[in-house]
Amino acid sequence: MSDAKPMLAGVMGWPISHSKSPRIFAHWFAAHGIEGAYVRLPVRPEDFAEVYRALGKAGFCGVNVTLPHKEAALALADEATPAARAIGAANMIRFEGGRILADNTDAYGFIENLRAGAPDWDAAAGPALVLGAGGASRAVLQALLEAGCPEIRLANRTRAKAEALAAAFGLRIRVVDWEHRAAALSNAATLANSTALGMAGQPPLAMDLSMAEPGLTVTDIVYTPLETPLLAAARAAGFAAVDGLGMLLHQARPSFRAWFGADPAVDGTLRTACLA
Ligand code: ATR
Repeated sequence: MSDAKPMLAGVMGWPISHSKSPRIFAHWFAAHGIEGAYVRLPVRPEDFAEVYRALGKAGFCGVNVTLPHKEAALALADEATPAARAIGAANMIRFEGGRILADNTDAYGFIENLRAGAPDWDAAAGPALVLGAGGASRAVLQALLEAGCPEIRLANRTRAKAEALAAAFGLRIRVVDWEHRAAALSNAATLANSTALGMAGQPPLAMDLSMAEPGLTVTDIVYTPLETPLLAAARAAGFAAVDGLGMLLHQARPSFRAWFGADPAVDGTLRTACLA
């Protein structure tokens, strides 16, 4: 009898019914002729630890972890990558030899999406303005710092949360007032929205782009709708604009590689499959 693991993985969250990850993996299984399964795992916070530990024994190669379990997934792991530790959360888990190995691929997904969507984008070309100081912001900050961004201006409605992130992430981060965010675009190379503003059902993000200079690249972690009011305004003003769907697609790629041993493509057919 073969002791090869079944090609079995999934995504844990609460709620999880809206996750697009099963579509991404189904598309890649078909593209690579892999007979695998990727399942939604609705897990209540109070059940998380028990289910998490049981999945490896149940034959899962790994799991993705989403809200509200990302911090617990890191805290309960046996080992964690530097990326997961820096972000303080895990979204990709491998079960190996009875151990739980935690990683975070959100920063990778953010950068790969920017590079694919704006090939001329250069992190080192100038400061970045990051809006928001929630969980998603930590991955964006880590990504931009790692990519070589010389300075990050961080604006959040609740300034204290931005101050706490700046203290955790170091000297290259400068907190600016939410009310003064438009002025912080002066000589910026990158503008990233990491708040939920602009998402369907949320208020739009009010962002005056008139202080921005040519060469600015604007990106949004929001992908419903794909063209947020922020991205539409950026495009109309002649700036490069990169939607957030690619971050979701690219962050899934290292999981597929690690669990199933094939390198899947992030391309137009995958985007179409996700939007259908
Ligand atoms: P996530 O983990 O997905 O980043 P979060 O931790 O709830 O979600 O963070 C949401 C972000 O959107 C925060 O930066 C939040 O600002 P506050 O820290 O001041 O709450 C921001 N946000 C949400 N609604 C907002 C609004 N109406 N105006 C400005 N910022 C808003």
